[in-house]
Amino acid sequence: MSDAARRAVCPGSYDPVTHGHLDIVVRAAALYDEVVVAVLHNPAKQGVFAVAERVALVESAVAAAGLEDTVSVQAFADRLLVDVCREVGAAAVVKGLRGGTDLDYELPMALMNRHLTGVETVFLPGEPSLSHVSSSLVKEVVRYGGDVTGLVPDEVRDALLARLRDDH
Ligand code: PNS
Repeated sequence: MSDAARRAVCPGSYDPVTHGHLDIVVRAAALYDEVVVAVLHNPAKQGVFAVAERVALVESAVAAAGLEDTVSVQAFADRLLVDVCREVGAAAVVKGLRGGTDLDYELPMALMNRHLTGVETVFLPGEPSLSHVSSSLVKEVVRYGGDVTGLVPDEVRDALLARLRDDH
């Protein structure tokens, strides 16, 4: 990666990645020279997938979208997002908003991050056809026997089936 590149970070738990996440990553890649998908462990959330598994699933989706030259995927544990941004040289965080509930959750974090280091957060309106899609709902649907085809990459659907149907 070049030092002069305009770089953005798309952070999240990605447990697992959904088409809603990927829509934002693809659109961020159209706005910035380089995008780092930062897989961050949130201690408040119990993970279904190990961080390395989440990274592999995002990498596979990024490659399928043909974006592997400009989009990288990295895991960060126990780190402030602002420190991740500093480490990778990103001036902006890009996040999607599905609606007002997302804004209520995201706005304090965006303001705190700007308070800490001045890093800006750019919000993109979520694709309306995916506004019902979240990692947690997708997991719940799979856990109780529903079909999430089209909401996540097929590889993610299959990984969810293997993980959650076995446990159920
Ligand atoms: O996909 P999620 O769970 O909504 O992602 C939330 C995440 C991981 C982006 C957020 O919790 C985060 O930025 N965590 C890193 C730690 C941090 O910087 N916390 C202070 C935020 S103001």
